[in-house]
Amino acid sequence: MLLTPLLEQQVVFFGGKGGVGKTTCSAAFALAASRRGRRVLLVSTDPAHSTADIFEHRIGPDEVELQPKLTALEIDGEGEATRYIDAVKRDINRMFSAGVVKAAYKQIEAAAASPGLVEVALLDRMIELIINRQQVHDLIVFDTAPTGHTLQLLRMPEAITSWIQALVRHRRALVEIDRGADVTPVAAAAADPVLGALERRHGRLSRLREIIGDRSRTSFVLVSVPERLVIEETARAADLLHETGIDVGGLVVNRVLPDDLEGEFFRSRKAQERVYLEEIDRRFGRLRRVRVRQLPRDVYGLASLTAVSEQLVGTT
Ligand SMILES: Nc1ncnc2c1ncn2[C@@H]1O[C@H](COP(=O)(O)OP(=O)(O)OP(=O)(O)O)[C@@H](O)[C@H]1O
Ligand SMILES: [Mg+2]
Repeated sequence: MLLTPLLEQQVVFFGGKGGVGKTTCSAAFALAASRRGRRVLLVSTDPAHSTADIFEHRIGPDEVELQPKLTALEIDGEGEATRYIDAVKRDINRMFSAGVVKAAYKQIEAAAASPGLVEVALLDRMIELIINRQQVHDLIVFDTAPTGHTLQLLRMPEAITSWIQALVRHRRALVEIDRGADVTPVAAAAADPVLGALERRHGRLSRLREIIGDRSRTSFVLVSVPERLVIEETARAADLLHETGIDVGGLVVNRVLPDDLEGEFFRSRKAQERVYLEEIDRRFGRLRRVRVRQLPRDVYGLASLTAVSEQLVGTT
C-alpha cells in the first residue's frame, strides 16, 4: 500500500508525534507530487522550520520556488499573531469613534497576551492559503507541528464558528431593533460593519470546514515509528481526526530497520520492532499503511529525499 492516491488531493496534512519524520515525509511527498506535474505548495506550520534544511534553501513567510512546480513557505505563528493584532486594530480604527477605539485597544492588548492567539493567527493564515491559493496550486501540503497542537487547530473552526454564529445573532438582533424588523440579513450586514466582518469570518470558516471535511479533497497523513508511545499517540490522533470528520488518508511507519543487519544488538532491536509492526497492522488495519526504511543518514537534499518519496508513492 502506498500514498499514491493522495497525490490527487487538494490539501494533505502530515502530522504526528515530535521527531517521527513529519517534515521529512511531507517534503518527500510534496516533491513527488510536483515531479508528477502537480503545482504544489509546501507549507510548514512548525516553529522549528526544518523544511529549509532539507531542501538546503532559505524559506520564509513568502512563497519561494524550490523546484519546478514546487514552492514553499513557512508560517511563523508569532509573526502572524502580531500581523493579526495589527489588522484587528486597523478594523477597529475604521469602524469606531476615538473613545471606543481607546477602550477596545485595552481589550486587544489583553487578548494579545492570552494563550491561543498564536493558534488563531496560524489558523487564519492556513485558511487564507487553503481558500485563496487553490487557483494557483493544485495541491497544498502542510507539515504540521506535533499532533496535539495541530488537531486542536483543525478542531478550532467548529468552536469558533458556533461562537461567531452567536455573535452574529446577537448583533443582528441589535440592528433589527434599530431599523425595524424587516431588514434582510444582507442589508443588515451592509448597514453594520461589525456584522459584516463577523459574517465574512463565518463564511471563511464554513468554507474551510467544507474543504477539510471533504475526503475527496483533503486527507491527513499520520506519521509514526514502530515504538510503544508513538503507537498510542497515533491511535489517539486517528480517533480525534475521525471524530472531527477529517479523512485519515494514510499512516506512515517511518524508520523501519533494514532486514539484513548483523549482530545480537540489531537482532534484538529487529525482534522488538517486529512486535510493534504487527501491532500497528492489527490496530490500524483499516488505514492505508506505508513503511519507510531507516536510511543510513539523516534526510537532506534531493537524493535522499527521493529515496523517501519512492517508498511513499513509488517511482514515476
Ligand atoms: N527514514 C529515515 N531515515 C533516516 N533518517 C530519518 C528518517 N526519517 C527522518 N529522519 C531524520 O530524523 C530527524 C527527524 O525527522 P523530521 O525532522 O522529519 O521529524 P519531525 O517529525 O518533523 O520532527 P519535529 O517534530 O521536530 O518537527 C531528521 O534529522 C531526519 O533527517
Ligand atoms: Mg518537523
